[in-house]
Amino acid sequence: MHVHTNYRREIENLADLSHIAWVHPHTVGGDPKYSAMKSRYEITPRGLNTHCWIRSVAPTGAVVHLFPDGARLDICLDIQHTVPCNWVMRFRAFTAGTATDGVSNGQLVVDTWTCQTVTPGDENSVDYYYSWGASKATEVPGMSDLLGSTLDEAFEEDRRLLEAQHQRRSERPDLPLLNIANDAGPVKMLWVLDKLLAEERAAASSAPGTAG
Ligand SMILES: [Fe+2]
Repeated sequence: MHVHTNYRREIENLADLSHIAWVHPHTVGGDPKYSAMKSRYEITPRGLNTHCWIRSVAPTGAVVHLFPDGARLDICLDIQHTVPCNWVMRFRAFTAGTATDGVSNGQLVVDTWTCQTVTPGDENSVDYYYSWGASKATEVPGMSDLLGSTLDEAFEEDRRLLEAQHQRRSERPDLPLLNIANDAGPVKMLWVLDKLLAEERAAASSAPGTAG
């Protein structure tokens, strides 16, 4: 997918999944509880690992029709995000259990992996590659096809948001930005990116033949 935005906007988007509550109500999100997810972060040499449990939430929009009315799930997200923008997430869903900490004591419903890559083109465009599939143990006929087509739809939703955001920020580069608690992931990930860029510039300027 081609997206007219700067790659930093894609990094921000992927480092803060609370937006799935309102950007993706009919695909990969929907329940307002997603906007209150509390993630545990670990900065790594080239990125950020994120771990999060969201308990007793409605199934995501794309699959809610597969569950009985009122069904609730415990969802676990384990994400490895590396510079410039490789993003791997293990997504697990359990029937809602009673545990309030640690692994859910509900029954595992699905165990899936998605791998996504944002390739910067120029200052104003990226190419976005993605896949999503279920583990062999939890795959059922049609499941991985449903996951893939759900991402096609969800990333169209993101594309519209990201392109509008990029246009707005290009028009008003002086617009002050206010970080809220949900921006912790993007702030950390962009900090790692800028640190690596600074180190790369320093190494290039001190390389033989570049002095002066
Ligand atoms: Fe999104």
